[in-house]
Formats: sequence, structure tokens, C-alpha cells
Amino acid sequence: TELSQIRNFSIVAHIDHGKSTLADRLIQLTGTVAEREMKAQLLDSMDIERERGITIKANTVRIDYPAKDGKTYVLNLIDTPGHVDFGYEVSRSMRAVEGSLLVVDATQGVEAQTLANVYQAIDADHEIVPVLNKIDLPAAEPDQVKAQIEDVIGIDASEAIPISAKTGLGIPEVLEAIVHKLPAPKGDRTAPLKAMLVDSWYDSYLGVVVMIRVMDGVIRKGDRIKMMQTGAVYGIDKLSVLKPKMVDIAELGPGEIGVFTASIKQVRDTRVGDTITHEKRGTDKALPGFKPAQPVVFCGLFPVDANDFEALRDAIEKLALNDASFSYEMETSAALGFGFRCGFLGLLHLEVIRDRLEREYDLDLITTAPSVVFHLHMKDGEVRDLHNPADMPDLTYIDHIEEPRIKATIMVPDDYLGDVLKLCQDRRGIQMDLTYAGSRAMVVYDLPLAEVVFDFYDRLKSVTKGYASFDYQISEYREDTLVKMSILVNDEPVDALSIMVHRDRAESRGRMMCEKLKDLIPRHMFKIPIQAAIGGRVIARETIAALRKDVTAKCYGGDATRKRKLLDKQKAGKKKMRQFGKVEIPQSAFISALKMD
Ligand code: GTP
Repeated sequence: TELSQIRNFSIVAHIDHGKSTLADRLIQLTGTVAEREMKAQLLDSMDIERERGITIKANTVRIDYPAKDGKTYVLNLIDTPGHVDFGYEVSRSMRAVEGSLLVVDATQGVEAQTLANVYQAIDADHEIVPVLNKIDLPAAEPDQVKAQIEDVIGIDASEAIPISAKTGLGIPEVLEAIVHKLPAPKGDRTAPLKAMLVDSWYDSYLGVVVMIRVMDGVIRKGDRIKMMQTGAVYGIDKLSVLKPKMVDIAELGPGEIGVFTASIKQVRDTRVGDTITHEKRGTDKALPGFKPAQPVVFCGLFPVDANDFEALRDAIEKLALNDASFSYEMETSAALGFGFRCGFLGLLHLEVIRDRLEREYDLDLITTAPSVVFHLHMKDGEVRDLHNPADMPDLTYIDHIEEPRIKATIMVPDDYLGDVLKLCQDRRGIQMDLTYAGSRAMVVYDLPLAEVVFDFYDRLKSVTKGYASFDYQISEYREDTLVKMSILVNDEPVDALSIMVHRDRAESRGRMMCEKLKDLIPRHMFKIPIQAAIGGRVIARETIAALRKDVTAKCYGGDATRKRKLLDKQKAGKKKMRQFGKVEIPQSAFISALKMD
């Protein structure tokens, strides 16, 4: 295809502002998919994504659009992930296209992720076409939202297109704007092949499918290609474009986007952002700025039933085939037995993986408290990464500890601002900025990631009744007085409950955890002390009183079936319990004990 007749773009939006609905409309209007094949949300293919209403894996579609100028254009839409955890993938896929549609819900206005995502588009030098969605709703305020886009984002919104992705209103104008406002890609057909690896996924029939954007040169079926980061060489088996079904194509030239398969074994062998060239006479200049995505949040995943360990291993290996940014290694915990220490790009990523393990693979799991990666500066000068509080070495070997800090942007209606400030303050936040856009406040906080990974987002939603939007990025590692707090149940340390905490907060956190555990752990035949300790020093304590009578005692003299029933019931209850020495702790306690409410 002629470069001048190609337009490559993505859609940036806050969650729920209508990105998927608009994508569906664009595809539908251009007849890329027959009406009856149209599913409600074509691009969000995974169930879990649909349920949660978020787009996780970047998808793409090629649309043939006969424009009003009489020419037919090839429009390539890349559907980028909508959440901050996938920020690195978003920023890479943005570099594969020249423009973005900025979708803002005209009833809601600019939200935290609108900002985060549009800044990534601006960073990638995109031409941006603002689109005001949901104008079919009576609550839509297109003029206010236009002004807000100009004030808050600082781009010209005078020609923003009012649309309803639901009814189809304004969609033809959007297609014309894509053709006339977004630039055509550039590239040199005669130069050595240079293509960007935009995304990859595992398909159970085809194996690993790799999505690319060709910058220079031409790629053909049968070509021998090389991944410049990994050095691996493959032969192209199948070359296709997505419409959105795979349609085979003989070659892809500059500016084009498509997919190939090449007998690649696992997604891990394909790095988003890598440069692909020919094995022979390839380019020697890779695309700039490659960096692998790094897990920042770690937690332990253990089977409730130790017999499920192999099943958990299989499930994790399968998921990892399709998700290179998720890391895992085997872990043994004195408290929980065999399991895995897993690393994630962020909290949402963690939740998605855990949900899939539980639902798709039918596993009952204990998730330990999410922890961030601390940098331990040892007295001998070595710097160690601490992924698990249980591995914390003796303090006498440590010079100082650094923790990751984030820059968090929160947008919230005025009325709830006070509660948001208090929440951030409680989590050791430092306020950096506070501005207003209409009746909404935008606050920027410098916060420790460790205080955010657990239940910050839930708390934020609850104190603002769901009206706040939140976005963050890691800013730096900074020193602070952090200690490891252990929890002892019946005088035995329970490693899965240890946490890293700020020294000044240790007493109150310790008291809170002991109180919670007192309620969460059922009474036993003996009295159970629960203690929080730093090193050898106990900083908080509670005691669970002993249970007086055997549960079957009240059946004394009763019939045997009743007694058996009672025992069976007890046994069923036990499935969700783990034995620690002489004490049984319910599975739910590991997470509930850490909640700060
Ligand atoms: P994520 O995939 O979570 O990022 O959300 P999204 O931005 O893709 O939003 P989606 O397209 O799923 O739309 C969110 C909700 O808004 C859905 O319930 C849509 O039906 C609804 N919606 C989208 N566009 C319109 C519109 O123009 N008018 C009205 N009334 N509702 C709309």
C-alpha cells in the first residue's frame, strides 16, 4: 500500500469512556465485520477483561476505508491496554502509530487515566484528534468538556468531534478526521528491514503470534528474520493482517502493521519494543529506547490444598506462556508449604492473574500480602533486591533501605477532596500539587508504593463513593526507616504474615493486625497469644481465649448421625484452613489481617 494512503492510530481514553464501543463502531461502519458477526465488544476478547471492563492485551485491526475524496485508505487501529500497570506496553505500542483519537466521556470530563494516556500519546509525537463521546446522554456537557481538555491537557479542542459511539452519531466524521488530520507514516521501502515488535500472544493453534509495525524495508512470508535484542533467528511461516480475523498477505511494507508466526516457542522469546530485521543484510541500527518491562509488585501464591501444587505449577506455566511480564519462582514457606513467589507489573496485573488461576484453572489459593521490591544497601557495599519480607537479613548487616516512591495523580469532585487528602497523608504521602478544573480537583501526591499496593485503591473508591480516578507512575527509590515486622501466632512466627513497614507506623500497624487476627482465627481448646514483633521485641499483643467445650459435647447422648454431621461440617470448614503448629488459621486471614480500615 502507498504510504500516503495509510493511517495508523490508537484510541486513548479513561476506563469506561467508550474506547471499545468506538472501535467496534469504526469496524462495523467500514464493513470489516459482517453485522451478525459483531459481538458486543469485539476487541476485548477475554472474558475477564469484559467482566472488569478493561482492555489488557493490545489488539489491532486493519480497516479499508473509502473516503469522501474517492480514495480508499488503510486504517490500522491499535487497541492499547487502558491501565497504568501496562504503561510500558502502552508507550511502546504508541510508537508504532502516528496519531490518537482522544476519547472523553462528555458526561464525565477528563479523568486521571485520560491524562496519563494522552501524555503518552504526546510523548510519542502523535497528532491528536479529540472526540467527545456519549453526547446522546442528557447529562452531556460538550462545551464544558472542550474547555476542560484545553485547560487541563493543553491541546486545541475547538474542532473536537461530538459523537455517540452507542448510536453511531458522528462516526463518519471521525473516519474523515482520521484521514485528513492524522499524518501518513514515513518509511523507506528500499532500506534494510526494520520493524518494531508491538505485541505478541500465545494462540493454542498457531503458537506465538507476533504483531509488528514495519518502519523500513519489506517483510515477506518465508523470510529469515532476526530479533535484535535476543539475537534469535526465525523463518516466517505465516504473514497476515488482522481484519480483525487473520487474513494472509504476501508482504508488509513501510507503515504497515500485521502479524506473523515463526515457530516461536514462548511469548518470553519475544520482547515488546524489540527490533526485527532480516538475518542477512539486516539493519545494524535497532530502534531506540528498548527496555524490558519490570515486575514491581510481588506476592506469594500457595495452594490451599498442598496436593494442588502440581496443578498450580502447570497453570502458572501456561499463563506465563502468554504474559512475558509476569515472573515466578518456586518458594517454600514454613507456614504455607510449597508455592510460588510471583512478580507483577502492578496491582491490577496481580488481581487479573490471580483471578484467572482461580477461575480458569479452578484453584483455591492463598495470596500473601503484596510487597514491593526494596533495595537493601548492605554494610559491605552490596545492594540487594528484597522481593519477600520473609527473606530480610539481620538488620546488623544493613546500612540503609530504599523503597520505591510513586507520583500519583488523583482527580476527585471537590466534596471528597478532604477525605482524599487525609487518606494520602495517612499513607505517608507528600502533597506536590493541587489544582482545579471546574468543580473537580486534581491532586498530585508523592507516595510510597508499599502503602499503595495493598488496599489504597479500594479505600480511595470507598471514601469518594467511586467518584475519584487514580493513576500512578514509579518515580524513584528513596531511603526511609523501614523495618520488618513479624507476626507470631502461639509463639511461632508465621512467615507469610511478615511485612515491611515504616518504623513510626509499626506499633499501630502491629496493633491493628493483632486485633484483626484475634477476630479471624477461631477459638481453639487452648489459649492463643498473637504478637507483633520487630526483631526480638514484641510491640503489640492480643490473646484468643480458649474454647471451653468440645463441639460434640452438646450432642452428648444424642444420636450418632447428628454427631457425624457435626464432624463433617467441621471438616468442610477446614478445607479453607491451614495448620500452623497447633493452630488453624483460615485462608482469608492472610489478606484480611492487612487491610487498614
Ligand atoms: P475499557 O475497555 O474499560 O477501557 O472501557 P472503554 O473505554 O472501552 O468503554 P466501553 O466502550 O466498554 O464503554 C463503557 C460503557 O459506556 C459501556 O457500558 C458502553 O455501552 C457505554 N457507552 C459507550 N459509548 C457510549 C455512548 O456514546 N453513549 C452511551 N449512552 N453509552 C456509551
